[in-house]
Amino acid sequence: MACCRGASLTIAAMNTSTPSSSGAQGAGSAAAASPASGSQSATSEAAHARPRIAVLATGGTIAGSAADAANTSGYQAGVVGVDRLLEAVPALSGVAQIQPEQVASIDSKDMALALWATLAQRVNALLASDDIDGVVITHGTDTLEETAYLLHLTVKSTKPVVLTAAMRPSSALSADGPLNLLNAVTVAASQAAHGQGVLVAFNNRIHSARDVVKTSTYAVDAFQSPEVGALGWVQDGRVEFQRKVVRPHTVDTEFVIGTKWPNVEIVVSYAGASRIGVDALVAAGVRGIVVAGTGNGSIHASVQQALADAVSQGVVVVRSSRVGSGHVMRNGAASDDALGFVTAGSLNPYKARVLLMLALAAGGTGAVALQKIFDTY
Ligand code: SIN
Repeated sequence: MACCRGASLTIAAMNTSTPSSSGAQGAGSAAAASPASGSQSATSEAAHARPRIAVLATGGTIAGSAADAANTSGYQAGVVGVDRLLEAVPALSGVAQIQPEQVASIDSKDMALALWATLAQRVNALLASDDIDGVVITHGTDTLEETAYLLHLTVKSTKPVVLTAAMRPSSALSADGPLNLLNAVTVAASQAAHGQGVLVAFNNRIHSARDVVKTSTYAVDAFQSPEVGALGWVQDGRVEFQRKVVRPHTVDTEFVIGTKWPNVEIVVSYAGASRIGVDALVAAGVRGIVVAGTGNGSIHASVQQALADAVSQGVVVVRSSRVGSGHVMRNGAASDDALGFVTAGSLNPYKARVLLMLALAAGGTGAVALQKIFDTY
């Protein structure tokens, strides 16, 4: 892993526009060229006026490559370096001064807890510096929603953090990565994105890390925020937010990134499910189990009995739904009070696992206190 090179990419200055007071702003015209003339000092003054955005690359399809430009499914993810990703988007020069870093080069299916810690610590360190105005993270789509939510809860800054990705490799005809990257930097460079928590810019939409989920295995419009919709949009250099995130995030959470991760796993309920998986996890010593239930978090009787037994052995059980939208009602499809379960509300199982890990790492114990955390975040 080539981590954190920190080399600054100097891009010619062209746009020094300031945000409009409406909350929407143009961060720079993608079509505009670099300055035709001008003194060195004028160029450097203009460069200082543009926001300084760190672009942290972690791999994914956005950095993927296939032998054939028509191939959008058989390719290797995470093989194109951050400098090449940036070179493919000359219009970035009009939006920001970019500081690229190659934090990892992975297919995000292989995202590891240690890399999460490295990434979150790097984001926090960069944002603590007066030299950085925002961070963009390029990521694989497969676990993007988990990384985004983790950062949403552990970044200690109000500066913008924007994740982006692509559904088509960089070698593809109509690759979506370059425009997604330009839009992500545009959002990160915008005043309107401050204090909005961690964001995901994808296919012209801006989503909150809490709400966004990947909903398609192949479509370019792969990310949605079920029930609540996107926070806003970004197009042609203009950023507009249409609603605000209401739950606490970033500087308003009690969570910090550490290096010790409580072992929390996920089980699924389905027709004919057995208690084998839950019993194996308890025997392995897990601290928590998130169950992806059917419907409103309903659980096959065999699995539910195994989970109740797990609670009696000190394992925290969080009841969520595999459905993909909506929320799980406490004491609805299961008697949570009697069983000692926590309910995930509108968090999907994968995000519920992130929150449970952070809550346990922060010393959270007991179903009542943990339920309060789930009701809050
Ligand atoms: C990955 O998640 O790294 C591969 C898939 C993608 O980015 O779309």
